[in-house]
Amino acid sequence: MKNLVIFASGSGSNAENIIRYFATKPDFCVKKIYCNVPGAYVLERARQLQVPACVFTREEFRNPDKLLRRLQDEGTDFIVLAGFLWLVPPCITAAYPNRIVNIHPALLPAYGGKGMYEHHVHEAVLAAGEQQSGITIHYVNDRYDSGDIIFQATCPVLPDDTPDTLAARVHELEYQHFPRVIEETVLKSANGE
Ligand code: GAR
Repeated sequence: MKNLVIFASGSGSNAENIIRYFATKPDFCVKKIYCNVPGAYVLERARQLQVPACVFTREEFRNPDKLLRRLQDEGTDFIVLAGFLWLVPPCITAAYPNRIVNIHPALLPAYGGKGMYEHHVHEAVLAAGEQQSGITIHYVNDRYDSGDIIFQATCPVLPDDTPDTLAARVHELEYQHFPRVIEETVLKSANGE
């Protein structure tokens, strides 16, 4: 059994999609949602899907020894960042080498880094007049959006796009690919690749 936890900060539509996908996979368990925003809608989704959830504070994240111990005590094999907006502390990235993945709503290395999240990304892509955008799934290290890239997929940017219409198209790509890429990456790491 591979135990996954999801870190999320917001709506959690990817978290829900991932939970539903792995609910049909007997060798995987989404054990818990870790959330840094009290009241985030991802917590309501977790409640409805009957997945345990917890909220942690900035202070706990700055001194992450306890959080790391909790992850390890819960038997966490793999961590998925799905719309999680804080930088993961080095002690956690070091404890989970190539076992933390993030999804970014653009084609890294462009439009990444601190402050580049959600609508900020789509606004920047539109302001630059790009003709395509997409998603990047990558390993997480202790710098924003700079771990090795595992998978990318593209979508067009249309002339009349707004940040919202582009976000919706990018979200569709995320739903289509993220769970499968997580599954493949977990299996690779279990085989020592
Ligand atoms: C997703 O589009 C994800 O790619 C993005 O936040 C959104 C979360 O949506 N992540 C980042 O921007 C990270 N830099 P969700 O809460 O509905 O899954």
